[in-house]
Amino acid sequence: MPLHIKRLVFTFVGLLVFFIILQQILKPHSFGVQGHFREDAIKENTQRALQYAGKANCTKCHDSIHAEKKEGYHSTLNCEVCHGPGLKHAQYAQMFEGKELPDSLTLIKPNERKDCAICHQRNAARIKILFDTIDNTMIHQIDAMEHNLISKKTKKERRCIDCHNPHQP
Ligand code: HEC
Ligand code: HEC
Ligand code: HEC
Ligand code: HEC
Repeated sequence: MPLHIKRLVFTFVGLLVFFIILQQILKPHSFGVQGHFREDAIKENTQRALQYAGKANCTKCHDSIHAEKKEGYHSTLNCEVCHGPGLKHAQYAQMFEGKELPDSLTLIKPNERKDCAICHQRNAARIKILFDTIDNTMIHQIDAMEHNLISKKTKKERRCIDCHNPHQP
């Protein structure tokens, strides 16, 4: 074997051994116990604190809003999609019934134009609704930079909720 090929083979074998050693050192200890993943990842995830209460929970106390929402276009949206994770809010309200909620536990009310635009802003990559066959999986798109932006009366920027009820748009 010519010398330069020997050097090449030697370098490759050297690198291979180096990588195998490195892999053994860096591999998390629980990798491969159950399969091709880190077993501890399951434990870590089950130990994470719950954040969301679920729609049924919100409905218990806010049944009028639920009743309103379920008749409208937003019927398929869960409360926490807009209001954010509410488990602590729900638990506190249940435990201390009648007591005012501390500020940290009042939920966000996404009432700015940009909040609605998250879902409704026209986007070429989103499927368009053809012939107005709404099945609540497609979303009607508007251009939030144009659609009723400025009030003629006040000359100020309007909020979406000035005209649309978020629970029954
Ligand atoms: C045990 C009863 C209870 C449960 C469960 C509950 N809430 Fe509330 N919620 C309240 C009370 C009490 C208030 C404060 C008084 C009010 O504005 O009606 C409140 C207020 C709110 C507000 C208004 C906050 C503000 O700043 O005006 C929102 C939004 C809200 N809840 C959403 C939710 C959502 C979403 C859920 C489900 C994750 C939920 N709530 C679960 C009792 C509850
Ligand atoms: C599309 C987003 C959206 C969804 C879904 C939604 N909300 Fe709201 N909610 C809002 C906005 C925006 C406001 C603030 C309205 C305002 O400022 O007048 C609000 C206000 C509220 C308030 C304050 C009182 C009121 O009537 O203004 C409560 C309580 C509330 N929502 C509960 C709920 C519950 C319970 C659900 C699920 C059944 C829900 N919301 C679903 C957007 C949403
Ligand atoms: C998480 C996504 C989401 C958010 C956020 C959201 N919507 Fe919707 N909206 C939907 C879906 C889904 C529908 C049902 C399909 C449709 O009609 O476009 C809908 C329907 C509507 C409609 C009825 C359209 C029609 O068919 O005439 C209006 C109006 C509307 N939303 C306004 C709002 C406003 C105002 C806000 C902000 C407070 C908002 N939406 C926030 C998902 C969203
Ligand atoms: C001045 C009142 C007003 C404001 C403010 C307003 N809208 Fe509308 N919106 C309407 C009216 C009226 C219609 C129905 C006629 C039309 O299509 O223009 C409508 C229609 C819609 C539709 C259905 C479009 C379709 O294809 O049928 C959506 C979605 C919508 N609005 C979302 C929004 C969002 C999101 C905002 C805030 C960024 C907003 N609107 C602000 C009055 C308003």
